[in-house]
Amino acid sequence: MPWKIGTLWVCCLVLQALGPFSSKAADSEVLKPRVPQDQIVEAQSWKNPFSSTQENIEKGKQIFHGKAFCVTCHGRDGKGLGNIPGLVGRLPRNFTDKDWQAVRTDGELLWILKNGSPGTAMASFIPLVLTEEEAWHVLLYVRSFGQP
Ligand code: HEC
Repeated sequence: MPWKIGTLWVCCLVLQALGPFSSKAADSEVLKPRVPQDQIVEAQSWKNPFSSTQENIEKGKQIFHGKAFCVTCHGRDGKGLGNIPGLVGRLPRNFTDKDWQAVRTDGELLWILKNGSPGTAMASFIPLVLTEEEAWHVLLYVRSFGQP
């Protein structure tokens, strides 16, 4: 009966559409580069001029919890909050995700702080909220969530 074949086909389409919401697909989505292809090589060449000392991480922590309000979306534990009212696009990044930590260079993360992640709630922070120097300190703190 033709309608049965039609129904089957519609089901396939629905399953395909739901695919991105399965946890595996969602992870690979998070790992995709955020910096556009024509800028990524340059962004990857930017190195953090500050070393990961306890003092520098602490400075980044103060900014993360303080004037840059990163904590309101990424959470005290860096795991990223879900269900934020009015949030469009993807959920705030979980900084404890080791796979994500491994695929991103420091330069790519600085690019995000300069430009934001288009189409998501992640806005640009440099230069309005943070100087580049402060941003590098915050990134040392972001990296510390990936440590065992
Ligand atoms: C209004 C909510 C919000 C605030 C405030 C916010 N973020 Fe985000 N952040 C997001 C969202 C949503 C994403 C996911 C964007 C994406 O998947 O492309 C994100 C992603 C990121 C990423 C990952 C980008 C990548 O390449 O995967 C970094 C790093 C980051 N944020 C750092 C920060 C820092 C540091 C602050 C404070 C200076 C901050 N965020 C403040 C919502 C926020």
